[in-house]
Amino acid sequence: MKCHYCDREAVVRLPYAKLNLCREHFAEYLLRKLERSVERYKMFGKGSKVVVGVSGGKDSVTLTKLLSESGLAKLLVVHVNLSIGEYSRISVETVRRFSVEHGLDYLIVDLSEYGISIPELVAKTRRSPCSVCGMVKRYVLNALTLDLGYDALATAHHADDMAVYIVKSFLLQDYDQLYKISPVNYEVPGLAARKIKPLYEFYEFEIETFAKLYGLPFVSVKCPFKHVGWLERYVRELLDRAEEESPGFKISLLRSHARRTLSMRSAEQAKPKACASCGLISSGTECSFCRFTRRALGQPMGLVVRRWIIGEAAAGGTRRVTGTPPSSVG
Ligand code: FES
Ligand code: ZN
Ligand code: ZN
Repeated sequence: MKCHYCDREAVVRLPYAKLNLCREHFAEYLLRKLERSVERYKMFGKGSKVVVGVSGGKDSVTLTKLLSESGLAKLLVVHVNLSIGEYSRISVETVRRFSVEHGLDYLIVDLSEYGISIPELVAKTRRSPCSVCGMVKRYVLNALTLDLGYDALATAHHADDMAVYIVKSFLLQDYDQLYKISPVNYEVPGLAARKIKPLYEFYEFEIETFAKLYGLPFVSVKCPFKHVGWLERYVRELLDRAEEESPGFKISLLRSHARRTLSMRSAEQAKPKACASCGLISSGTECSFCRFTRRALGQPMGLVVRRWIIGEAAAGGTRRVTGTPPSSVG
């Protein structure tokens, strides 16, 4: 099988684009696809400062690699250490290695001394580890992007996951969740950072193939808390079959969904409120992070996190392991 653009052997087949590509043309194709997504969804302007949330998995390292190759933005890699034993140790090391190898500024956020560690928080409440983990990461990354003066927060959600979340939210009639799923969630000044998903139209197999072809370091062990429920499994199977029948099905679904969500604002964004404890976005009097930590640790931790960011992180504290402090701060 020959590459569509040259005489080299193709290493990947993209059924939805009817293309077989060699290693070099595949990389070029993905880079162009990333640039087109940034433009199509008006994610950020050229020269913006973007925080990239990097867990160390294949998705987030691929996103960072492509963003950095594109030269579209000034990046800060941020990893939230969740203190999940060996899994977190490997993740921290991988993110560190990846960032150093690529000459990127990076920041490892470790708030375990304040009781913000997944095993500890889970032991004190009855919530599922994944939901606590998601909430903690969302809070820290949002606060950090705002408090360090960055323009946007990029995460590595890809098409296969986004399509599943859309269909699953619809089946559960969870419209709040459904409308939050979007390639761009606009900023609310002072309360919420702009959130972008540059891999919104990328298939997982493309990401994995790229990460392996280019020898990117990534964490392949699974988080010990990972749990996939029956509904998610079922929806994923259904969508995979639809994609097989009709290549490109998931991207069409995602584009139609984005057209709707981008033309409307979620209820939360329509009437933004500030958390009484930490001052960031909240749907009630107190944001979910402050409410949750108040229950689990006896006090709302939002302000503690924000002080840490403004103090230690911005001032180039011990956890900023490389690079200079962001120029907007100070
Ligand atoms: Fe968050 Fe597993 S990585 S619960
Ligand atoms: Zn080629
Ligand atoms: Zn709060």
